[in-house]
Amino acid sequence: MRDNIFGLKIFQRGVIEFSNRCHKNCHYCGLRCGNVCLQRFTLDENAILQAARIALAAGMGTVVLQSGEWPDANAHSIARIISKLKALGDISVTLSLGDHEGDSYALWRDAGADRYLLKMETFDESLHAKLRPGQSMRERLQRLETLHRLGFETGSGIISGLPGMSDTMLANDLLRLAELPLDMIAIGPFIAHPDTPLSSCTNGSMPEALRAMAIMRLLRPTANIPATSALDALTTDGRLQGLAAGANVIMPSVTPESVRTGYSIYPGKNSSQTPVPETITRLQERLRLAGYDPSSMRGPSPHPNPSPEKRNV
Ligand code: 5AD
Ligand code: SF4
Repeated sequence: MRDNIFGLKIFQRGVIEFSNRCHKNCHYCGLRCGNVCLQRFTLDENAILQAARIALAAGMGTVVLQSGEWPDANAHSIARIISKLKALGDISVTLSLGDHEGDSYALWRDAGADRYLLKMETFDESLHAKLRPGQSMRERLQRLETLHRLGFETGSGIISGLPGMSDTMLANDLLRLAELPLDMIAIGPFIAHPDTPLSSCTNGSMPEALRAMAIMRLLRPTANIPATSALDALTTDGRLQGLAAGANVIMPSVTPESVRTGYSIYPGKNSSQTPVPETITRLQERLRLAGYDPSSMRGPSPHPNPSPEKRNV
């Protein structure tokens, strides 16, 4: 199904994780504010633009600005960075900055941002509330709706194998993702982080994550589905297995070596100290060996979802 839509092209998105500061306290995540073991960093505008230039030179057609969540005060500085990123070349800019005011989303869209990723993590209301203190599934869903209305290509997703997630919940999550007007759908397995309340929980399983991705591809043939880096945390060629299960997007981190290990959402994330260009060249070689064609296209989903007026979240 993936080949029918995308051929063997794999869209490459370079992820700039520019700050690990976060005011939320999600139980599963190493960036949670309650994790006092983590040294916090925020890259300045120059460092972000430099990372983006490296990403472009390495063949990325999209850069993704990602960070923990913070209060909306610096929305204007993000807007300035977005417009400078767009001026670097013919690229898409994706934001993955979590929950913000509608005004900030609108400002960033006006500044030129093309896409926004906001993962639901799970649609199960009680599990969502339990693992994401102070947050509700419904509010998150409304934010997705706002983003879509503002004209962003929207992405969402879930963590498979979250502690407390039953098979029924996972199946339901897949159906809920499939019925939303999403351009991008990410599924990554849960990886227990030692400095979180879920440290002693069992990791999500590889077969479960792969099966969920394959089902998603069949439910939503034209969606952009990434082979998430969490797959690589479970096994060395995890992302390649993700591609074999139907993913068509790869999202290497292009965060500078000096800070990248600090973006430790889960163990194994950004653990390599190899320079970014070399890491990407090696990844591209592995993709080609596996028969894929790493693409520098911007790579929107080929059959865009219905316009906001026509659809119903
Ligand atoms: N295991 C897997 N994925 C995680 N994320 C956060 N913590 C974990 C974890 N322990 C993912 C979530 C979130 C993104 C920042 O990383 O999906 O949206
Ligand atoms: Fe913060 Fe996102 Fe991690 Fe939650 S999942 S603690 S919002 S970075």
